[in-house]
Amino acid sequence: MQVKIDKFDDLGWGLTRIDNKVCFVEKGIPNEVLDIKITSDKKDYSKSVIENIITKSEDRVNPICKYYNNCSGCQFLHLNNRKEQEFKTSKALNYFNTCDNFYKTTDYNYRNKVTLHVKNGVIGLYKENTHDIINIHYCYLVNEKINLVIDILNNNIDNNFNGEVIIRENNNQEILLVINGNYKYLDKLLNNSLINNLIYNNKVLKGNDYFIENILNYKFKVHYNSFFQVNRLGLEKIINILDNTLKDKELNIVLDLYSGTSVLGIIISKYAKKVISIEENKYATSDALINLNLNNINNLEVINSKVEDYIDNFTNIDLILVDPARRGLDSKTISYLNKIKSKYLIYISCEMISLKRDLKELEKVYKKDKVYLVDMFPKTNKVETIMLLRS
Ligand SMILES: C[S@@+](CC[C@H](N)C(=O)[O-])C[C@H]1O[C@@H](n2cnc3c(N)ncnc32)[C@H](O)[C@@H]1O
Repeated sequence: MQVKIDKFDDLGWGLTRIDNKVCFVEKGIPNEVLDIKITSDKKDYSKSVIENIITKSEDRVNPICKYYNNCSGCQFLHLNNRKEQEFKTSKALNYFNTCDNFYKTTDYNYRNKVTLHVKNGVIGLYKENTHDIINIHYCYLVNEKINLVIDILNNNIDNNFNGEVIIRENNNQEILLVINGNYKYLDKLLNNSLINNLIYNNKVLKGNDYFIENILNYKFKVHYNSFFQVNRLGLEKIINILDNTLKDKELNIVLDLYSGTSVLGIIISKYAKKVISIEENKYATSDALINLNLNNINNLEVINSKVEDYIDNFTNIDLILVDPARRGLDSKTISYLNKIKSKYLIYISCEMISLKRDLKELEKVYKKDKVYLVDMFPKTNKVETIMLLRS
């Protein structure tokens, strides 16, 4: 069946209509004429794949990766950078009516962490929309050294291994490898100088259960169970945005919510009398306490709690910074953010859909000032949004 793609949908699929019913075309690009095959037909929409390209978009490029057709890791290896940026900025414009800047990072090999799944000795990433595993030997999104470890694991694996592998790398190219499951070749990993830290089923077998990250002039201890931004250059851009936004401000009390290891709280502490970080993960809050010392910070308090269980303790706050997980804010937290009515609110989000939902409520009290995009996840349909608001 032949169709012409009208535009992108929110996930970056091509969108067309067949007999007035919406049809999503995987990897279709606006204005392309394509032969498609319907793969799922529902009452209100259908999904399809490309069988043949009849008129090719000038923005289509050859995917660099041999796993691209099956793997769920990337969505935009078939698009040039210009079109990817246009998709991300148009989405922000569509959701928020403004996009004040787009900060680029590097195209490939930017991730400092990957989680691989293992089933019957097959190690890799999930196939699109399934829990089937596609065996991966190299991933273009992750740092080169992490790829070397992926290769080592592929060469030292047996059919009985089921579980999960997390590989992380810091800026000194030290590797921290976490293996959960019944893995047999531990001696091979212990003897490999590439692997600095090895944690097997929550036991440290080599090195430490953390590493130290250096970002700009800061130092951060990161436990293997603690969150750290996956794209170092992206984090530097966020730090630049925060510094430029706050450099002229003299803030009294600041809240750093969903604070992880207090990376952002520490960065903004120089603009405030006092910062209070709130984070539910006990490993991350322990790291945060150490990070205060590593960075000579003495005006930051760390609280280990769910944000929604603690937020009702505050009034009279100058700035609230929220950086929640993909699902965004819960309704109790939103209503307290509105009740506190801080002078400034900064919302950092890796999921525009939840940000858009939360903004609808927050806009009852706060006004959007600026919307910045940091390309934290190039070649995927995700982008980090930094939204500045004021009451
Ligand atoms: C996107 S990370 C941001 C961390 C930190 N701001 C940073 O940049 O490193 C979100 C953090 O929120 C924490 N988190 C998730 N739900 C939470 C909740 N309900 N209350 C407190 N922390 C939560 C997670 O453990 C994670 O550390």
